[in-house]
Amino acid sequence: MSTPFTIAIDGPAAAGKGTISKAVAAHYGFAHLDTGLLYRAVGAKLLLGMDAMIAAQTLTADDLQAGDLRSPEVAQAASKVAVIREVRAALLDFQRSFARRAGGAVLDGRDIGTVICPQAEAKLFVTASADVRAARRFTELTATGAQISRAQVLADVKERDARDRARAEAPLIAARDAVEIDTSQLTIEAAIAAAIAAIDTRRP
Ligand code: C5P
Repeated sequence: MSTPFTIAIDGPAAAGKGTISKAVAAHYGFAHLDTGLLYRAVGAKLLLGMDAMIAAQTLTADDLQAGDLRSPEVAQAASKVAVIREVRAALLDFQRSFARRAGGAVLDGRDIGTVICPQAEAKLFVTASADVRAARRFTELTATGAQISRAQVLADVKERDARDRARAEAPLIAARDAVEIDTSQLTIEAAIAAAIAAIDTRRP
């Protein structure tokens, strides 16, 4: 398909958005953008002492390859810089033009269906209970050798969600026309199948 087709996938931390987005992008042959990585890259620069707004305005592709963007510290810093209006504004154009690229795009994040691409052809809101999300994130983090307790991961996930939902700028909320998929009881395969079934109803 050479015309733009945007798939917006939003939801709270560790609900399965990343896995579903990659699989959906591969299924349709679309490009994929993990927008959380943009905020993580800005958060990582804040931890290094840079002003968040300047970091967002000068972000490069190389910054997205920086080591340790997946760490819990960077995740918390990302959600702190994500409340800043100027940071979000600096990242807007890149996300919007990615979304409308020829050949189709999948973007996952918190505000794709509500703010970045309200006209997205297909919107999903992927959720799971906080306990399930924390358990998944704990498994991911410990697999990379991180020293962190399950209780700390749950507290981090809850703190980040609360900040993402409560902020004034582009809060985490399902778009009115998003299809909600609760992955708490689903296998990865079933969650991907549910996402593709929902998107297929929006395809020409
Ligand atoms: O998705 P991920 O967990 O990598 O996102 C890290 C943080 O970046 C989120 O907790 C959120 O504060 C912020 N974010 C955002 N808007 C997006 C994507 C991520 O505010 N579209």
